[in-house]
Amino acid sequence: MDFDRIAVVTGGSRGIGKAVARELVECGYQVILIARSMKNLEAAKEEFMRAYSLSGKNSPELLALDLLDEKKVTEAAEHIVSKYGRVDLLFNGAGISIPGTLEQDVETFDTLFAVNLRAPFLLMKAIIPLMVKQGGGRIINMASRNGKVAVSKLGGYSASKFGLMGLDESLYREFSSQGISITTVCPGWVNTDMAAGEGGSMPPEKMIQPEDIAKTVRWLLSMTPSVRVMDVLLECAGDVEKRASVELAKLYELRSRHREEFDSIIVDGSK
Ligand SMILES: NC(=O)c1ccc[n+]([C@@H]2O[C@H](COP(=O)([O-])OP(=O)(O)OC[C@H]3O[C@@H](n4cnc5c(N)ncnc54)[C@H](OP(=O)(O)O)[C@@H]3O)[C@@H](O)[C@H]2O)c1
Repeated sequence: MDFDRIAVVTGGSRGIGKAVARELVECGYQVILIARSMKNLEAAKEEFMRAYSLSGKNSPELLALDLLDEKKVTEAAEHIVSKYGRVDLLFNGAGISIPGTLEQDVETFDTLFAVNLRAPFLLMKAIIPLMVKQGGGRIINMASRNGKVAVSKLGGYSASKFGLMGLDESLYREFSSQGISITTVCPGWVNTDMAAGEGGSMPPEKMIQPEDIAKTVRWLLSMTPSVRVMDVLLECAGDVEKRASVELAKLYELRSRHREEFDSIIVDGSK
């Protein structure tokens, strides 16, 4: 394999980021993987090298750093820009989820924002100008269904993901004319360590699989340059069905309490 396209993948050591990085290697990208644990990064690299018979030149570059650290993030971005001179794809996959809203202390709230929102901001700030110079590029950021619909007791996480959606939408509009395509991916539960920590009652096999996100990325990459996809919402079938039956039960309950008004609406609606 000889790679001429460069992809930066944060969170590339585990979960969604690793599945996406693997897909990108298969699509012919040279990947630069970012996460804190060098041990997990090395395991991912080893797996890709074996699966795709990669040679030294095309092997993934590993950058072990904490995205909480503004200086380290900026230095890593500068290193990538100067070493490779181009970035075709930036996948901001790293993220953390900490439950709570007003129960959270300010430090926790700030940590969520630093990893989930400030780090993608810093990487885009460094890499978008390079993409403009090279005539185009693609950015795919992991938000969440919680970035579109907030649930109770997850306000800090939701706020960081709503923030990322807003940042992405603004940049999507600003840079489209310069050949830059920005897509935000918003899944429900995905079967990873993160979901195992707080997946509630949903069994892992009923969740979205990391490979489903990797296939979403491959689908995005297959589009012609004339297409822009602002965001993609992926829901767990079980969640959709549960919500539908709750909504239906509420509707029946309401109907039994306000029979006459309900029936008059239905009669009026059928005219
Ligand atoms: N799983 C879900 O149900 C779900 C649903 C919707 C959206 N998402 C979003 O999808 C993205 C990926 O989630 P996931 O489920 O794959 O999570 P995961 O399995 O917990 O993996 C998180 C990845 O991010 C890296 N990471 C975490 N904190 C970091 C930090 N401070 N600095 C550098 N790297 C860091 C981790 O590596 P290290 O620990 O080695 O640093 C790991 O590679 C996140 O943005 C998440 O919010 C997940």
